[in-house]
Amino acid sequence: MSVRIVISALALALPLASSSLAHAQDSAEKAKAVTEEGGKHFDAEGNPTFKIENGAVDWYTFSGYRRYHSDCHVCHGPDGTGSSYAPALLNSLKTMDYATFISIVAEGRKNVGGGKENVMPAFGENKNVYCYMDDLYVYLRARADGAAPRGRPPKKADKPQAAKDAEASCMGG
Ligand code: HEC
Repeated sequence: MSVRIVISALALALPLASSSLAHAQDSAEKAKAVTEEGGKHFDAEGNPTFKIENGAVDWYTFSGYRRYHSDCHVCHGPDGTGSSYAPALLNSLKTMDYATFISIVAEGRKNVGGGKENVMPAFGENKNVYCYMDDLYVYLRARADGAAPRGRPPKKADKPQAAKDAEASCMGG
C-alpha cells in the first residue's frame, strides 16, 4: 500500500469518527423542546418533540406509549427495542427525520430478500394510528434519546384540551 493511500484512508476515517460523535450530541440538542402550543412541544425546527419534567412526561409522549403498545409493539418489540421481525425503532429514530417517519408509517414498506419477506403495514387508513402519528413520533423520539425509560411512564401531564379537540375531529372526520 502506498503512503498516499494510507494518508487518504486516514483523512477519510477521521472526519467520519468525529461526525458520528457530533451526531449523538446533535440529536439530543435537536430534540430539545423550545416552543409549546396547547401542551404539545416542538423543537427548533418546528417538529414535534417530548418534554419530561420531574419525571412526568408530556401528554403526547404518554399517549404515544399507549398507541405504540397497541399497534406497533407486536412487531417492533416492547418499548421500541425491536424483534427478529422488525427493527428497533429506538435506534431508527436516532437519525430518521419526522417526515420520513410519517411517510413510512402511512405508506408501509416491504423488505424482500434473503428468502424472507418482512412487511411494514401501511397505516394511512387506520385512524387508531394516523390520528396519533405525532404521539408515536414523540414517544419514540424520547426513547431514542434515552429520555423515556422502559415501560409505562409513571407520571404524565394531564390531557390538554387541544389534544381532546384534535382527537375528536380526527376520529370523527
Ligand atoms: C406486522 C408487523 C409490523 C407492525 C404491526 C408495525 N411494523 Fe413497522 N416495520 C415492520 C417491518 C418488518 C419493518 C422493516 C421493513 C423494511 O425493512 O423495509 C418496519 C419498519 C418500520 C419503520 C422504518 C424503520 C427503519 O429503521 O427504517 C418505521 C419508522 C416503522 N416500522 C414504524 C412503525 C410504527 C410506528 C408502527 C405502529 C403504528 C409499526 N411500525 C407497526 C413491521 C411492522
